[in-house]
Amino acid sequence: MNQPAPRRVAVLVSGHGSNLEALLAAGPGYGFEVALVASDRPGVRALEVAAAAGVATAVVDFAAHAGDRARFDLVLRDVVAACRPDAVCLAGFMRILGPGFVGAFGARIVNTHPSLLPAFRGAHAVRDAIAYGVKLTGCTIHLVDEQVDHGPVLLQAAVEVGQDDDEASLHERIKALEHRLLPEAVALVAHGRVRLDGRRAHLT
Ligand code: GRF
Repeated sequence: MNQPAPRRVAVLVSGHGSNLEALLAAGPGYGFEVALVASDRPGVRALEVAAAAGVATAVVDFAAHAGDRARFDLVLRDVVAACRPDAVCLAGFMRILGPGFVGAFGARIVNTHPSLLPAFRGAHAVRDAIAYGVKLTGCTIHLVDEQVDHGPVLLQAAVEVGQDDDEASLHERIKALEHRLLPEAVALVAHGRVRLDGRRAHLT
């Protein structure tokens, strides 16, 4: 019997790429392949991870589009669309995407955020959670809309904040959860197994 073709996933990165590594490792088991890795900056480790795995890479350098966010969105949109993705995954991608990008891929863009949304949106979620003194935080895997860290929640998991945690130790435990949940959520989206009822995502 022929296996169905794996679903195609484009992954956007900005840095270290541990979530990309998790996607590459789990993809075959979930029936998807990473078809493209695109970065908003050159020289990041995530691009090396992609190249080592034999995955096509692209750099759409945000700095080269200085001041023209809308143009950056459209260039990135075209690069990603060219790989005909079933899902787009933001895996440590540190840019806010505007309507030019988000509108092109509908409810097929997945982001991972290192807090239990709607708490601690933004770029310093782990630091902010420690400073606030919460005893539980975690990660949220959600669909992307045009507001920051806002779209419908797909999966969440919690970790306890220890008395002695600092940003690095807590983030490390949160990342371990992200590495498990992000491939699962990407597979659900890529296989069309998410049905939206307003903000509520029903996973089938
Ligand atoms: C993740 O914790 C993600 O939620 C946050 O940045 C981190 C990226 O890690 N936005 P990596 O580049 O996947 O290792």
